[in-house]
Amino acid sequence: MRSGLNPFSPPKHNNVIIKFAVSFLLAGLAFHFLISDSFRFSSVVETPVPANEEAGTEALVASLPVEVPLSNDFAANESQISQPGIQIFFPFLFLHMPEYESKNPDEGSESAICLLEIGCLTLRDRFYTNQSCLEIERHQNCMKNGRPDSGYLHWRWSPRGCNLPRFNPKKFLRLMRNKSWAFIGDSISRNHVQSMLCILSRVERAVEVYHDEEYRSRIWRYPSHNFTLSVIWTPFLVKADIFEDMNGVSSSEIQLHLDKLDKKWTDQYRNLDYAVIAGGKWFLKTAIYHENNEATGCHNCPGKNLIELGFGYAYRKAMHLVFNFITNSGHKAHAFFRTTTPDHFENGEWFSGGTCNRKVPFKEGEINMNEVDTIMHNIELEEFKKATASGSEKGVILKLLDTTQLSLLRPDGHPGPYRQFQPFAEDKNARVQNDCLHWCFPGPIDSWNDLVMEMIVNDGIYQ
Ligand SMILES: *[C@@H]1O[C@H](CO)[C@@H](O)[C@H](O)[C@H]1NC(C)=O
Ligand SMILES: *[C@@H]1O[C@H](CO)[C@@H](O)[C@H](O)[C@H]1NC(C)=O
Ligand SMILES: *[C@@H]1O[C@H](CO)[C@@H](O)[C@H](O)[C@H]1NC(C)=O
Ligand SMILES: *[C@@H]1O[C@H](CO)[C@@H](O)[C@H](O)[C@H]1NC(C)=O
Repeated sequence: MRSGLNPFSPPKHNNVIIKFAVSFLLAGLAFHFLISDSFRFSSVVETPVPANEEAGTEALVASLPVEVPLSNDFAANESQISQPGIQIFFPFLFLHMPEYESKNPDEGSESAICLLEIGCLTLRDRFYTNQSCLEIERHQNCMKNGRPDSGYLHWRWSPRGCNLPRFNPKKFLRLMRNKSWAFIGDSISRNHVQSMLCILSRVERAVEVYHDEEYRSRIWRYPSHNFTLSVIWTPFLVKADIFEDMNGVSSSEIQLHLDKLDKKWTDQYRNLDYAVIAGGKWFLKTAIYHENNEATGCHNCPGKNLIELGFGYAYRKAMHLVFNFITNSGHKAHAFFRTTTPDHFENGEWFSGGTCNRKVPFKEGEINMNEVDTIMHNIELEEFKKATASGSEKGVILKLLDTTQLSLLRPDGHPGPYRQFQPFAEDKNARVQNDCLHWCFPGPIDSWNDLVMEMIVNDGIYQ
C-alpha cells in the first residue's frame, strides 16, 4: 500500500490524530475579492533543478527547492469510486484503512496530519517553484513577495485510506490532445487555472492566444498537444450587471438575474470537452434580484423597499439553473462542479484588519466550517443531487469536485500580507491588507488538480 506516510525522521513527534469537532467560527460575511488582473511575467529563465529522489517515492523534503521527476506512477484504480453516468466525488468517502491510525508514531511526526473522517495532509515535494513557473500572478507569488516560512509549499492532500497520486502533467496533456478545457467562475477559478498552468509548464509552456481587457478571461494553447485551456470570468454564473471598478469599489448595486445564465460561459459550453464550474463568494455582495424582468427582492439593500431574500436564495436559484443547463444541454462535456472555497480571515475581515498568519494546517477539531460556507456548501450539494437524479438518465457527465473540506484545513495557504511585494520591508509593523481567500503558488490549490487528475483518469472517462 502506498500510504503517503513516508518516513520523515527528525524531528520526532507523535502522530497527530484528533477528532473532528466543532470549534471555530470565522464570522466571515463580507468579502473583498482582491481582484488583481495585472499579470506580470517574469523574465527569469527556467533553471532545471536536480531531483533528489527515486521514481515512485515521495521524498519529504521540507525546504529544498526540489522538484520530483515526471513519472508514470499513477495508481490506476487504487482509489476509485465509479458509477456510470453522473458521479459524485467526495474525497472523504474512501475506504477506511486502519494503518493510518496505527502508523508508527515515531515516523509519522509532523509529516502527516490525519483526520479520521477525511484523510491526511502529508509533506511532499512541491511540483514547481516560483522559478520554474513564470505564470504565477504576483499577488499569489508568496515566496517572491517575501513570505518567510515555507511549510505551506509542501502540504498535500491525500484522501482517507489511499494515496492521491500527484497530477501527472505528461499524462494529462496526452489525454487532452485535441481537447478544450475551461475553468468557469470568479477569481478563485483563475487561481485554479494558474495552478494548472504551472503544473503543465513542466511539460509544455502555454501560449496565450486571447485575453479580455482586464485579463479576467483568457485562452491559452498548448501547440504540441493541440490542447486549449481557458478561464472564463463569470463570478455569478447567472446574468449580472456589475458596477465595480478593478479595486472592487462599486458605484451601484449589482443587478442579478436569477432566471438567466451568463451567456459568456453558456455560449462557449458547446465548444468545451471539459469544464470546471464554480460559484462563490460574490453572492454575499449587496445585490438586487430580478426574475421575470422584475425586481423581486434583494440581499442587503435597506431602504430600497425590497424583500431581503438572503444570498442563499439567490445561490440556490443560480445553482439550480447551472445544473439544469448542464444536464439539459445535450452536450456531453465532462462537467465538474467545484464547491465553495473557504476563507481564513481571523481577528477581523478583509476590510477590518483580518489576518491569516498560521504556518501549519489545522488539525482535526481545530476548525469547523463557518456559517456562510456551510450554507453555500449545503446548497451546492443539494442542488447537485437533484440534478444528478435527472441527469443520469441523459448520460450527462457531471461530477462534484468537493474541495471545501480539504481547503478548510489550510489556513496556512493564503498570501495574507504577502499579496504585496515585501510588505514589511520599510516598516516591520506596517498595516497591510491581507488576502486570506486566494491561495499561494505553489500551495493548497495544487491539490485540487491532483483530485481533478484522479477524477479524469480513474473514473473511467478513458477506458
Ligand atoms: C485494477 O484494475 C485491474 C484491471 O482493470 C485489476 O486487475 C486490479 O485488481 C485492480 N486493482 C485494484 C486495487 O482494484
Ligand atoms: C522566487 O522566490 C525567491 C524568494 O524565495 C525570490 O528571491 C525570487 O525572486 C523569486 N523568483 C521569481 C521568478 O519569482
Ligand atoms: C487529433 O486530431 C488529429 C487531426 O484531426 C488526428 O489525426 C488525431 O488522431 C487526433 N488525436 C487524438 C488523440 O484524438
Ligand atoms: C486539433 O483539435 C481539433 C479538435 O479540437 C481538431 O479539429 C483539429 O483537427 C486538431 N488539429 C490538429 C493539427 O491535430
